[in-house]
Amino acid sequence: MAEPPLAPVIVVGCTKGGIGRTALAVNLAAMLALAGKRTLLVDLDGKGDATASVGLPRSRRGKSLARYSEPWSFLKDTFNAPRPPGLDVWPGGPAIERIQAELAESGDAHHLDRGLEQARRRYRAIVIDAPSDLGPVARTALASGDCLLIPMSPAAHHEEAVNETIRAALAEKERFAVYGVRIESRARLQGDEDQSDEREPVAGFDLLDSTICFDPDTFEAAAQQGLPVFEAAPGSLAARCFLELGREVMRLVL
Ligand SMILES: Nc1ncnc2c1ncn2[C@@H]1O[C@H](COP(=O)(O)OP(=O)(O)O)[C@@H](O)[C@H]1O
Ligand SMILES: [Mg+2]
Repeated sequence: MAEPPLAPVIVVGCTKGGIGRTALAVNLAAMLALAGKRTLLVDLDGKGDATASVGLPRSRRGKSLARYSEPWSFLKDTFNAPRPPGLDVWPGGPAIERIQAELAESGDAHHLDRGLEQARRRYRAIVIDAPSDLGPVARTALASGDCLLIPMSPAAHHEEAVNETIRAALAEKERFAVYGVRIESRARLQGDEDQSDEREPVAGFDLLDSTICFDPDTFEAAAQQGLPVFEAAPGSLAARCFLELGREVMRLVL
C-alpha cells in the first residue's frame, strides 16, 4: 500500500509580537482538526500562550534538545487538546528555554526537522506557533517548515518585521511558500467600509483570499476559556473567518 503523504509543516511567524500569531496558529490548527485532519499544534514560544489557549498547562520542565530532535520522544511529549477531537499539542512554555540554550551551542538548525519525522506521518497537518525572536528555536521552526503564514494587521505597521521574517525563512530554505493573512476590521469585512485603498503586498509573497476579523473581545475570551473561537463563540464572524481560512489552507497546503 502506498505511504500516505507526509503532513506539511505550517509555521505561523513574524518577528513582531502581539500581532495575532498565536490566535492564528491555535484557531487554524483547531479548524483543521475539526475538518477531520488530525493536526499537531507545536508551541515553540516560551510564553506558552498557544498551549494555554487550548486549555493545557504550559510546559515548565522535562524538555531537552535530545527529546526535541528524536522523533519518538517528540511524539511522546504531545498531549490531546480538550477540544476539538483530533487536535494534539506539543506544549510550549518556560521549558523551551533549555532547548534554546542547547541549540545555541549546537549551531544546527535541523533538530526539529528530524524531531518531526514521525509526527509528519502520524498527522495530516502540523502547525507551529513560532517565537518572535529569530533565535535558534525560531530557526529550527523555519528550517522544518513548508509554508509560512504571517498575520498582516493594517494597524501593526510591521512591514520591516514581515520582510525580516521572510528573509530568515528563505535563508533556511530556498523554496518556502509564504502567505500573508490579513486581519481586517469587521466593517471592512462586512463591506460597510470603503474598500478603495486595497493594500499591496509588502514583498514577494501572496495574500490569502480569506481574512481574519479584528475582534479583540472574541479572541481574548476564547483564549481565556482555553477554546478555539468556533467553540467559544460559534456563529461569530471570527469563527466564520476561520472556517474560510481553514478551507483555503487545506486547498493550498494539505
Ligand atoms: N484577529 C484578532 N482581532 C483582535 N484581537 C486579536 C486578534 N488576534 C489576536 N488578538 C489579540 O491580540 C493579542 C495578541 O494576540 P496573540 O495571538 O497573542 O499575538 P502574538 O502571538 O503575535 O503575540 C491578544 O490579546 C489576542 O487576544
Ligand atoms: Mg504568541
